[in-house]
Amino acid sequence: MVKKRTCVFISGQGSNLKNLIHYSRYNNFPLQISLVICNNKNANGIRYAKKYKIPFILVNTKLKNYDNKIIYYLRKHRISFICLAGYMKIISDQIIKNFKKKIINIHPSLLPKFKGLNTFSRVLENNEKKTGCTVHYVNNKLDGGDIIVQKFFYLNSNDSEITLKNKTQRLEYRAYPEAIIKIFRNN
Ligand code: GAR
Repeated sequence: MVKKRTCVFISGQGSNLKNLIHYSRYNNFPLQISLVICNNKNANGIRYAKKYKIPFILVNTKLKNYDNKIIYYLRKHRISFICLAGYMKIISDQIIKNFKKKIINIHPSLLPKFKGLNTFSRVLENNEKKTGCTVHYVNNKLDGGDIIVQKFFYLNSNDSEITLKNKTQRLEYRAYPEAIIKIFRNN
């Protein structure tokens, strides 16, 4: 199997990056993590790129035309697929146009519910019965592209933002690889 050269975009902890690196080491997993792009120089996730010797690029998204720099490096590293993993920045139209249907994201809610930030507090405020995570294609609408995989769990009366985050992330570590396998199953 020829693995897709993939870039993972991160901003923070990088636990989904770590999980995808883990899966990418299986022969029959469709992706090879070939580049990490990060917009936060203090992101913990950078250490996984270093540990596994994956090239990583820091981008300053406050600079004008920063997406030209991103596109430059995506081309340089012959990237053909992009996974957003806790990347807290809207992807520019220019990048979306260059990678149509080739960018996916993981979001910590059952989309279309709770797009955007602070999902766990909103889940609690709304007395939701269940919540979970969604892997979806990225288009130019916030958390708006077609859904690939969703996983859910039922809330307990004593759930807090912390327990919801932990439970959701545990589901994410299964949902993200499953979505990737689903996408490439028929390719
Ligand atoms: C993940 O839970 C992901 O769903 C969320 O950020 C976390 C990143 O964790 N993404 C979003 O909220 C995007 N809107 P990680 O850095 O440990 O993978």
